Amino acid sequence: MKRLEAADRHRVGLTLNGRAASGWAEPRMLLSDFLRHALGATGTHVGCEHGVCGACTVRLDGAPVRACLTLAVQAEGRRVDTVEGLAPEGTLTDLQQAFRRHHALQCGFCTPGILMSLAAWLETRPVPDESAVRALLSGHLCRCTGYSGIVAAALEVARAQAAKSGDD
Ligand code: FES
Ligand code: FES
Repeated sequence: MKRLEAADRHRVGLTLNGRAASGWAEPRMLLSDFLRHALGATGTHVGCEHGVCGACTVRLDGAPVRACLTLAVQAEGRRVDTVEGLAPEGTLTDLQQAFRRHHALQCGFCTPGILMSLAAWLETRPVPDESAVRALLSGHLCRCTGYSGIVAAALEVARAQAAKSGDD
């Protein structure tokens, strides 16, 4: 097998959870592996590694993407947000607190990816709608919860947002 030459690697610089970060990546290195192994952001989980389970979902310039279908070099110069960035000071977001209340996680393997997708959805100030939440969750596999708690948590936060914007 050909030895990887230093010239085959690329220094990838990006903004990770609001802070500048950089590391070396081979041309075909996946963003999921880069985050976990080069930048130590192990909150991004890796399940299927081919775009099916949703566990690796992160936000790239705000949009949820499968980090296992994204090359590290594609994130060069861009903003990447992972689950670690949701509560950097340790104060859980409303969505995370709702997950706790509704027992929306068990083993937690799927949870970081689901949180990142739901966080993006909530930023759109959606109409609280169960079918929309379930459609979003169709891109995420959870083997533990049966999804009910996740749906309840997402709807609770969406309803609270909607009520608050109605008061404003
Ligand atoms: S690990 Fe990326 S979708 Fe499953
Ligand atoms: S909580 Fe275990 S896979 Fe979802």
